[in-house]
Amino acid sequence: MHIPHDAIQRYEYGERVSHWLLAISFIVATLSGLAFFHPSMYWLTHLFGGGPWTKILHPFLGLAMMLFFVLLGLRVWHHNLIDANDRKWLLKAGEVMMGNEEAAPPAGRYNAGQKVLFWLLALCMLGLLITGFLFWRPYFADALPVTLVRLATLLHAVAATGLILLVIGHAYMSFWTKESIRAITEGWVTRAWARMNHPAWYREVERDR
Ligand code: HEM
Repeated sequence: MHIPHDAIQRYEYGERVSHWLLAISFIVATLSGLAFFHPSMYWLTHLFGGGPWTKILHPFLGLAMMLFFVLLGLRVWHHNLIDANDRKWLLKAGEVMMGNEEAAPPAGRYNAGQKVLFWLLALCMLGLLITGFLFWRPYFADALPVTLVRLATLLHAVAATGLILLVIGHAYMSFWTKESIRAITEGWVTRAWARMNHPAWYREVERDR
């Protein structure tokens, strides 16, 4: 792999591995969950060895996803704290989407859109974890009031829908922002990318050089 001598490192090896294990576990947990979302998707159970096996595996696949999210989250959460600059950025988000980046205050390591997305992902993950435990038969659900179990099932589906939409948005934006993908596959970005997409972060990196 050819890395230009003036490239800037954005992700360390461990962060990239956590991210891709997270992405893979998201896909398998989602496919095994969708299998039970609607009868039209029940055929997905074939991928996991049939209905009973899918039902047994899904919670563990979900826990694996949660584990990888926590591993990555512990490395990046402090870069996602929202400040006054981000609130101004969010008010200009429409213009940024239209390609007019200069209309918003310069973004740091992550722009405010990425930060909001990070916390929404975390919220959906937490929601899935709590509600999932509440109807994890036969370990927990049988001891709980049926109304609670039904509510948990509904909220689990709501959180899963939210997570799927957020991840689609996240993956779309990461292809849309050219060269971002390389940051999370190979770990580095060009100075031009940093200056254009995250000018305040670029200034920090330059200062610390
Ligand atoms: C095929 C799917 C995916 C692609 C193409 C993708 C792409 C990317 C890229 C390019 C970055 C670096 C962004 C930057 O540094 O500015 C990133 C970061 C990140 N991704 Fe993904 N990703 C995918 C799946 C996921 C999934 C499933 C999750 C979580 C459920 C996730 C959570 C994150 C998080 C937490 C970060 C760090 C950004 C932050 O802290 O704000 N990604 N991803």
